[in-house]
Amino acid sequence: MITTWLTRTFDRTVPVAAATMAGVADGRFAAAGIGAGILGGLGVGPSATGDWVREQLAIANRAAGPYCVGLMAWALERDATPYEIVVESRPAAVCLSFGDIGPWVAPLREVGTVVLSQVSTTDQALAAEAAGVDAVIARGSEGGGHGYDRVATLPLLQSVLDAVAVPVLAAGGIGTPRGLAAVLAAGAAGAWVGTALATCAESAWPDDVTTRLGEVGEDQTRYGHVFDTASQAGWPAEIGGRAVTNPFFEAWVDRLDEMDDTARARFRAAPAARDLDTLSIYIGQGVGMLDGRRRSVAEVVTELAAAEEILRRVGSQLS
Ligand SMILES: Cc1cc2nc3c(=O)[nH]c(=O)nc-3n(C[C@H](O)[C@H](O)[C@H](O)COP(=O)(O)O)c2cc1C
Repeated sequence: MITTWLTRTFDRTVPVAAATMAGVADGRFAAAGIGAGILGGLGVGPSATGDWVREQLAIANRAAGPYCVGLMAWALERDATPYEIVVESRPAAVCLSFGDIGPWVAPLREVGTVVLSQVSTTDQALAAEAAGVDAVIARGSEGGGHGYDRVATLPLLQSVLDAVAVPVLAAGGIGTPRGLAAVLAAGAAGAWVGTALATCAESAWPDDVTTRLGEVGEDQTRYGHVFDTASQAGWPAEIGGRAVTNPFFEAWVDRLDEMDDTARARFRAAPAARDLDTLSIYIGQGVGMLDGRRRSVAEVVTELAAAEEILRRVGSQLS
């Protein structure tokens, strides 16, 4: 067994945390992570209602294990209801990202919740540490979903590990035992895994999306602001997202300012129409490692745990 800050803090068997992916990681997904021996993940999106948050926390709580709730700082400034419900519920961990996390850290720590934050540059890591988080997640630009497109996982991880004193998890493109072994060998306390778990049987995604993801190659994701411009969800301008590229993305990526109501209406109608050429499927470059099968979270975690054998093999090469 590999023992790190992550496994010790949450009494886990594998040094992996499921990323808190809004739209993918609901209470059932969090429970699956708990059952698989990792830190489960529950993602709260910008439009989540208090009722939805309560319901999903209750489902995750039935698994009676540790999970992390992902909250977006910019969205909390608009409506702090999800935050208040989460503080009251005292999950094992909360990941605060995307905006000024400062005001939200202390009340969580006071109720005994471990606070994490995703960072995309070394300066952001230092700022998160100064804000009082228990650990940072160094998230490289190859990662899926929202974030900054600044530095790739490996250079970011090396730099952040040298810069901060708090434990560091690595995120962005980690989808196999090789990737997990690599970041552990570098000094990370574990991996924060999104893409590799997003198509699991327990994820909230429908089958047409997971089937499509099985066909998408490693070079078919793009980072940008097209889908946020279309959704008008309110994301801060400096934060974009990595998603599968599709005809809608390609049509607008170079002329965002010209996006009109017709395009926005088409985007809004796409989920109901199951129009995969238009709707957004957020995913990282690790999508190339997915084959379209909906494996269970436990199967993926068992595979990732083989990082231990890789590290032993590397150790045996030392003289
Ligand atoms: C579909 C999807 C949704 C995501 N939603 C969120 C979110 O709601 N909150 C958050 O902090 N991060 C979110 N992320 C980013 C992940 O937390 C994480 O940084 C990323 O998945 C790691 O890289 P990987 O996808 O290569 O494993 C999302 C990622 C994906 C793929």
